[in-house]
Order: sequence, then C-alpha cells, then structure tokens
Amino acid sequence: MENNRENFGSKLGAILAAAGSAVGLGNVWRFPIETGQNGGAAFIIIYIVCILMLGLPIMISEFLIGRHTHSNTAGAYRILSNGGRWKWVGRLGVFCGWFILCYYSVVGAWTMHYTYLSLTNAFSDIPATQYGEIFSAFTSDPWIPTLWLAAFILIAHYVITRGVQSGIEKFSKLMMPTLFIITIVLVVCSVMLPGASQGIEFLLRPDWSKVNSTVILGAMGQAFFSLSLGMGCLCTYASYFEPSTPLAKTAVHVSVIDTLIAIMAGFIIFPSVFNIGMDPNEVGAGASLTFISLPNVFNQSFGNGTFLAIIFSTLFYFLLFVAALTSAISLHEVATAYITEEFKFSRRRGATLITVSLLVLGTVCSLSFGPLADVQIFGRNIFSLFDDFSGMVLLPLGGMLISIFAGWILDRQLYRDEISNRGDIPTPYFKVLIFSLRYIAPLAIGLVFLDQLGAFDILKK
Ligand code: PHE
Repeated sequence: MENNRENFGSKLGAILAAAGSAVGLGNVWRFPIETGQNGGAAFIIIYIVCILMLGLPIMISEFLIGRHTHSNTAGAYRILSNGGRWKWVGRLGVFCGWFILCYYSVVGAWTMHYTYLSLTNAFSDIPATQYGEIFSAFTSDPWIPTLWLAAFILIAHYVITRGVQSGIEKFSKLMMPTLFIITIVLVVCSVMLPGASQGIEFLLRPDWSKVNSTVILGAMGQAFFSLSLGMGCLCTYASYFEPSTPLAKTAVHVSVIDTLIAIMAGFIIFPSVFNIGMDPNEVGAGASLTFISLPNVFNQSFGNGTFLAIIFSTLFYFLLFVAALTSAISLHEVATAYITEEFKFSRRRGATLITVSLLVLGTVCSLSFGPLADVQIFGRNIFSLFDDFSGMVLLPLGGMLISIFAGWILDRQLYRDEISNRGDIPTPYFKVLIFSLRYIAPLAIGLVFLDQLGAFDILKK
C-alpha cells in the first residue's frame, strides 16, 4: 500500500500546500483584531514567541510522524505506537479534522456569497445599521447558504479526487501565489487611504500594559489554530513529502508565511476602519467583523458603490474564500487519506464518502442559523457547538497528546534521523526542541485548555 502512494512533486509544492492549510479564516478574522486590542506589537512578539516555543516543535513533530510512516494520520500513530494505546491520537486527529470541516465549510460558503454580493454591488446605498440584518437574513435562509455550502464542498471534493500532485499540489501552486498577490494589492490600496496611519498605529503600537495571562493564553490558542496544529492536517501532508524535504526549514517557512499574511490582514482592515472614523473596539471579531462591519467599512472608505469599492470588497472576500478553501482541502484530505488507506477504498470512493457526510452535517450546521436555530445543546446552536468543541477541546487535547507522544514516547534516534534527513542536515536545536516537547508544550497547552474551560475565571475577577 505504502509503495504506490503519491508524493508532492517539489519542495515548493510541499511548502505551499502546508501554507495553504495554515493560512485560513483565522488569519483574517481573529489575528488582526486580537493584535489591535491586546497590545499591538507587544502581542505580535508574544505570538512569535508562542510559535517558536510551541508551534514549531509541534509542527516539526507532526511533519516527522507523517513523513516517517508515509501513512494517513491514524495509520501513522498506529505504526509508531506498535498498535498500542497511542494509536488513538491519530484517530482523534482524523476525527477532529473531519469535525472542524463540518462547520468551517459553512463559513467558506459565506465567503462565496459575499464575494458574489460584492461583485454585484449589493452593498451600495445600504445604511450602516442594515448590514447585520442582511447577514442574518442570509444565514437564516434555508436554501441560499446551503447551496453555497454544497458548491464549496464540491470544489474541495474535485481537487481532492484529482490526487496529491495534480490536485492538491497543483491547486496550491496556483492559489497561494494568487492569495499573496491579492493580499499585497489590498494592503497597498488600504494604506493609501487618508487616516491609514492611525489604523497602522492601532495595529502595531506596542503596549505592554495590555499584556496579561489571558492575552498570553489567547496568543497560544491563536498560534495553534492558525498553524493547523493539533490534528491530522500537517501529518497527512507530510506523508507526501519527499525524503529530501528539510522538515525544520519547511516548518519555519510555513510559520513565516502564516504570520505575515495575518499581519497583512490587519493592514487591510484597520486603515479603512479608521478612515471612516469607526471605533476599532466596536467592529467585533469573527463573523460579525467579517460579514457585518467590514462590508460597510469598505463601501464607505472607497466610495459608496464606486468601482474601487466593488473591486476592493470583491477581492477581499475572494481572498477569504481562497484561504478557507485551501484549509478545507487539507482537512478533507485527512479524512480521505484515512478512509482510502485504512479501509482500502479507491481515492474517488473514499473522497465521495467523506464529501457526502460533510454535505449532510455541514447542512445541519448551516441550518442552525435558520430552521434549526431552536436546537440548542449546552446553550449553543449546532454550529457553535461544533466550533467550540473542536477549538476548546479537540485541538488542545490533540496538541497536548502529540507533544507528549513526540517528546516522551517516540524513539529519540528516530526523531533525530528524521529531522536531520538521516544525518544530512545539522540539528543544533535538537535538545531545545525535545525539551519544549517534553515540558513546555504540554504545560502551556494544558493551561490554555483549562483557561478555555473557564478554570481560571475566578482568578481573573
Ligand atoms: N489554520 C486554519 C486557519 O487559520 C484553520 C485550520 C485549523 C485548518 C486546523 C486546518 C486545521 O483558519
């Protein structure tokens, strides 16, 4: 089975595919606002420290586990644990990827609809107060979001069925440069707006007084989600890396790309916010920032209904769509690789099975804003349940188990052989890496975990 697996055809393809997974909605709808509100450059420095101490060691480990075993995530941990209990970490990763994709696709679908709305100039002459209503009318409609959802999932399905090289790699090589170019164009337009410097100042001015334990834990959680860590994505992609791919260097490239795009997203958003004199603390975060505040902000900044406003907004939502799609493809691949390899299905049949399951559960998540809004579990609608359960429980749990597995269980010699490409690359950082995996990462993730579950709420008051 292992012998006829495909590989990525080039090192660049491998980097772009992994970066495609990392760069996603998290870069645009969480990072900039978190940075602006939590100390600007101070937050960025903390975020980078989190990446160095936690992100890189775990990313390198996930790469190594995938490439060493040339197997899907469940198979990889099964092989490395000799069928022992640790095989469950891989299965958890596969489940987590599939689970995230169920709700992530719903937002991917929204970006498609907003690209369409921007392109058709639907935001001109809309009073600022009405954007919220437009968004809720759209998301609560039983049909329109569901149809976009089907389109989004089927595009991902198409790329997946074309295979690793002619599907995922080719698509990443086309889409990631497109994404960079659009980002740069949007940044340039944005920083030329009058008042842009205030926006940049809001984003970057270091303010260490804002930094407290909540901010640090938030930065860790964000680094984790943004780098696609803690589940099967990077491990699955790394199983297609060639033996000569330098793992640590690839991990650094992916992290740098992910962070740069996240910072640039801030340069796209805040100049416009300040340009129209809006209070940046009132733009919201996540969906309300992206689909309620920003269409208004862009339309006003670049001139109500003008060509420039249409182009800017269309490119922005298309950028989000591309970012979400490449992440969704990486999530789909985790489950597809698992089904095809563990149950000996053809790639097409395996992918179809996953796609059908996504269409069903994704639709349920999507309808939880409309006809299924009354279905509440633990005080949340179904969408939020999927979102919170994966972000607050599955990802931190997965990340902690992966770091413990890599630091304590995995054979040290095997680890060193893999990251040095069997002695070809010097690895002066080896000891630090292992130290982080053994002590720092499990402890830090444990704290994030407890914090997200509300364990420290009493202390914070
Ligand atoms: N990293 C992606 C983002 O920033 C989300 C993601 C998480 C993708 C986990 C794959 C796996 O949006």
